[in-house]
Amino acid sequence: MADTRFNDRVVIITGAGNGLGRSHALDFGKRGAKVVVNDLGGSGFGEGADQRVADVVVDEIKAAGGEAVANYDSVTDGDKIVQTAMDAFGRVDVVVNNAGILRDKSFQNMTDEDWDLIFDVHVRGAYKVTHAAWPLMREQGYGRIVFTTSAAGIYGNFGQTNYSAAKLAQLGMAQTLATEGRKKNICVNTIAPIAGSRLTETVMPKEVLDLLKPEFVTPLVVKLCDENSEVTNGLFEVGAGFLAEVRWERTQGAYLDTEAGFEAEDIDASWAKITDFTDAAHPADIGEANKAIFAGLKR
Ligand code: NAI
Repeated sequence: MADTRFNDRVVIITGAGNGLGRSHALDFGKRGAKVVVNDLGGSGFGEGADQRVADVVVDEIKAAGGEAVANYDSVTDGDKIVQTAMDAFGRVDVVVNNAGILRDKSFQNMTDEDWDLIFDVHVRGAYKVTHAAWPLMREQGYGRIVFTTSAAGIYGNFGQTNYSAAKLAQLGMAQTLATEGRKKNICVNTIAPIAGSRLTETVMPKEVLDLLKPEFVTPLVVKLCDENSEVTNGLFEVGAGFLAEVRWERTQGAYLDTEAGFEAEDIDASWAKITDFTDAAHPADIGEANKAIFAGLKR
């Protein structure tokens, strides 16, 4: 098995001071990448800032013989993070959008501030970093981007309306960027990880957290960012050594009579068919998905 190397590749990892981001940064560093360790150093709740958080990881990478530089900006100033990469290393090859916080509350108790802050960090932050790196990747005809969503986004989770919505927004961004980046050799994928970190320490017992090592998530991120990988537009659940791809599924559906017209009551007769997942379809893109709708016009 050939070693996966990132010699002369410049890798930006956001939120790389703790948890998953730190694990990714150390692994890329070990594989010859020039790593930009971004971290604001705030709390898991999105308050405060501390430069030491990024500095410690930079020191760890250097102590292991790697190359790294720290960036302390919020991902909402993503252009500054990309500028740090350009100033230090002159290019950007890989972006791992990983920075994140939580503001968990039942919807009933959620404030506008809880909503806005989660969207600022997860959606605007991922957008800003990626948007600044995008023209550089297009220009060089090469790029690898990983977004970090969550099972809470894919499936929903009590107390996480803001987080679920923001995390699934990242998947939407990734899917469209995979389409826009295809011709320029920019591969874009999304992971939904589970790992023990300060974000999960309040919701899982310590014995379980100790087994959910971030190091069990990082290998997939590294693989997806390999220059030899052509995987794009993928969504993967990953944690505790379990890796699986996830995709949309659609029933064969039913066509109602548009000529005669139909109303809510007419749907009942077709409901079993509308909701029957036997022989379900898996549309791979919007064109394939819409074919079923447009087929209805020709009947
Ligand atoms: P963590 O709290 O250990 O690490 C996140 C890092 O992001 C922290 O070092 C924090 O300072 C940094 N950060 C937060 N806001 C930032 C900002 N505005 N700008 C720059 N850096 C910022 O959390 P963990 O668990 O490693 O999470 C990493 C990502 O994985 C997050 O996006 C999280 O939502 C996602 N995730 C984690 C899961 C888990 O089981 N740990 C589950 C699903 C998703």
